[in-house]
Order: sequence, then C-alpha cells, then structure tokens
Amino acid sequence: MMVATLAIMFAGFLRFDDAAEICVHSDLLIIMDTHMKVFIPRSKTDQLMTGSWVTIARVDGPCCPVGLTERLLSRGGYKRLPDTAGEDVGPLLRAVQWTRAGGRLSGPPSVAPGQRLYSLWYSAFWTRLQKVKPSAGISEFVKPHSARIGGNSTAARNGVPAELRQAHGRWRTSEMVHHYTRRDLPSKLEVTRRLGLASKLSLRSAVL
Ligand SMILES: *[C@@H]1O[C@H](CO)[C@@H](O)[C@H](O)[C@H]1NC(C)=O
Repeated sequence: MMVATLAIMFAGFLRFDDAAEICVHSDLLIIMDTHMKVFIPRSKTDQLMTGSWVTIARVDGPCCPVGLTERLLSRGGYKRLPDTAGEDVGPLLRAVQWTRAGGRLSGPPSVAPGQRLYSLWYSAFWTRLQKVKPSAGISEFVKPHSARIGGNSTAARNGVPAELRQAHGRWRTSEMVHHYTRRDLPSKLEVTRRLGLASKLSLRSAVL
C-alpha cells in the first residue's frame, strides 16, 4: 500500500492530502491498458465533481504506478462497484495487512449508505512508512509534499516542458495548460514515462 501510494503521488505530482482523496470507485479511478485516470476532488465535499483528473501512464517494471495500483486493489480485496446507491466503497489509502496468502484490507471493503470509510491519516501513513522504508531503499525523511516536489523536479530534469508539468501538477491555468489538460493524452502520458520509473527501481529518487 505504501509503495503503491508513493508511486502514485510521485507520478501524479500529488500531495498526501490529494492521495488521501482518491476513491477506488471504478468511475473515479479508471484503469486502462495504457494509463489510469485518478479523480482528485477539489475538497472533501466536492459533490459537483469540480476536482480534476490526473492521468498516469503505465510503464514497464516493478515501479509502474498503474501496475502497483492494480496489484494493491486485487490483493487488498477492494470493492470497486457498490451494489446499492449510497454504499461507500471508500478511499484507496486504507490499511492493508499483508499475510502469507497475500494481503487484505484491515477493515470492511464497503459500508452501508449513510456510513463512510475514511482514508489513513498522515500520521498513520508516516508510521507505516517508517517500517517499509528500509526495504524500499528509502532512508531520508519523507514529507507530505516530497513526492509532488520530487515528481516535478524529476520531470523537469528529464525534459518535460513547464506547461505540461504545470498542467499535470494542477498549478496554474493558462491557454497552454488548458490545451494539455483537456486534450492531449500522448503528452500527458509523457510525464509519467519520463520519470525514469521503468529504468530502475527508483522509489528512493521518487520521494526525495
Ligand atoms: C518544478 O520544478 C522546476 C525545476 O526544478 C522548478 O523550477 C519549479 O519551481 C517547480 N514547480 C513547482 C510548482 O514546484
């Protein structure tokens, strides 16, 4: 869960708070052959869906954010489609216990209408991160914004144009940014593809 989350945050230029808002509902987390689209609501009560979609490409190798997300969803036994209106299938960031047989969500996969499933708080995420850091090759301090900043600077270093990075990170709006935001899927996919995730196991550089 931690590694998938960090990979998504890095590739999507997300803050921890953004990642915590990702819902696993199949209309809000759309997984395709070449990429996935993640809906980031503008606020916790974004009922009009005025947030934004972040596009993350599928890349080769074990650090692929899309592959890691799929693995987490299936191993964790998440439910992606509610059976009834109002049933909450919850956020992606929930505790998953890994067992010899695989993994499993610690809590229920969904709750009845009127109830809500909550994502991990940053403090809980951070505590868990301390435990997996050695095995993920991460030694430094990781802040809530590290992956967002690291994603942007890695993309900049690898030649992703500023407009495209701005659109991807949802920083500013200009005509150019709108162009990328609305239309250009190949350009959007280029952001993830240029992060170097496929070439080496680089979660270390991902979060620093
Ligand atoms: C993104 O990275 C570039 C290059 O490191 C930097 O100049 C720019 O300020 C960063 N943008 C944001 C919004 O952090």
